[in-house]
Amino acid sequence: MSSALRREYLAALGLETWVVRGKPPGSPETARADAPALRDLPEPRDLPEPRAPGAAGDSSPGREAGVDWPELRARVAACTRCALCNTRTQTVFGVGSQTADWLIVGEAPGAEEDRQGEPFVGRAGQLLNSMLRAIGLTREQVYIANVLKCRPPGNRDPTASEAAECLPYLEQQIALLKPKIMLAVGRIASQNLLRTEVTLGRLRQQVHRFGLSQVPLVVTYHPAYLLRTPADKRKAWEDLKFAREVCARV
Ligand code: URA
Repeated sequence: MSSALRREYLAALGLETWVVRGKPPGSPETARADAPALRDLPEPRDLPEPRAPGAAGDSSPGREAGVDWPELRARVAACTRCALCNTRTQTVFGVGSQTADWLIVGEAPGAEEDRQGEPFVGRAGQLLNSMLRAIGLTREQVYIANVLKCRPPGNRDPTASEAAECLPYLEQQIALLKPKIMLAVGRIASQNLLRTEVTLGRLRQQVHRFGLSQVPLVVTYHPAYLLRTPADKRKAWEDLKFAREVCARV
């Protein structure tokens, strides 16, 4: 990617080129947002806490195991496993390339996603698109899904039982997709996928593993959080570069 194009994507993320005061751009003291040297990746490590038998991503066959894409989509559309089926406009299955290397996992559909039936189409979705573009990916090249396929009313957090009922759908999406890397965006997605209460700040910048196939999983901030807390966009950019490095080594 050309440096001009990258600067454009970083600007879209709200990450402008840093220029040391009094020094012209391009001088050795000019520090760019993407300048930090690549360091060795932390070794892949075990998940923070042991999984309960039957838990998401463990070695037991999932409830939807063996189901193909069309059947899985139909099952999700007809799902009445939790009370969210009474308040949803429609289910939000997921979108993107079924041969994608990258799987982006968010929390749950919001109001706009519930209306349109597609994940990450609101303001947070626009920022997610910019985050992807910053590492050279288009929305069409990745697959995007959520832990929950239905919108929790008022955008409240998913309950543990809603997540438990819904996760087998995501597990089967992962089994079909066989991604090279998963990027969990936000605390809710990260904690549900990793079955941990460890804070997002402590889960970042590590290679976790998901499921029987041990898919590398990297954690970053949710774009909706970044819209409220733009100061953390720089950390998100570090996470994206980290994930890109991990993916390159798979
Ligand atoms: N936030 C999410 O976590 N997922 C969406 O699809 C939209 C907003």
